Amino acid sequence: MASLEMNKVAAALLTAGVIAGTCGLAAQLIYRPAHHEGENIYLFGSASESGETAEAGAQEASLQEIGPLLASADPAAGEKQFKKCAACHTVDQGGANKVGPNLWNIIDQPIGDGAGGYAFSDALSSRSSEVWTYENLNGFLADPRGWAPGTKMGFAGLKKDQQRADLIVYLRGMSDNPAPLP
Ligand code: HEC
Repeated sequence: MASLEMNKVAAALLTAGVIAGTCGLAAQLIYRPAHHEGENIYLFGSASESGETAEAGAQEASLQEIGPLLASADPAAGEKQFKKCAACHTVDQGGANKVGPNLWNIIDQPIGDGAGGYAFSDALSSRSSEVWTYENLNGFLADPRGWAPGTKMGFAGLKKDQQRADLIVYLRGMSDNPAPLP
């Protein structure tokens, strides 16, 4: 009997260890800042933990304007970048809302505006008096959670300026009447 009790204790300890280990790993996966290219997609919900914002603020401050890069950006390369978005977004006219809203004609549209029948988080809907200028989109795509703390967009961000420029120019083209380039 004593050995059965010992087994139970051992099993409990082992389970606790596994759970602690898994949580630690999961926490690392979720909260580790994407220093490496930012290609990783976070599969978990939004993280509005403080601490991240301070770091993101510093990052935002160092973000260069995307405007000057847009003239020479390549929409075909942007279409390839969009594969990173397509799990959650359609971009065709009248396309369905998925995990994220349809992105047709997104440039100069109000931020987080529910017109397309999509339920945005407060992080975006509270900014609906602003529009998706090229620079706003640039900031959001570089670091969604830094730019809009509390957003439910589970995407780490595209860290390379050129990739964002290509993608933004591609999104600009997904419109009947593309907004003028800056
Ligand atoms: C894991 C799913 C996911 C991925 C991947 C993703 N998004 Fe999103 N996106 C969302 C969600 C969810 C929202 C709504 C966010 C909110 O309400 O806070 C959103 C919101 C947006 C918005 C705001 C739209 C509006 O009408 O205000 C834009 C723009 C956007 N995403 C662009 C992109 C682009 C471009 C990519 C690829 C680089 C991308 N997203 C990748 C889920 C995703």
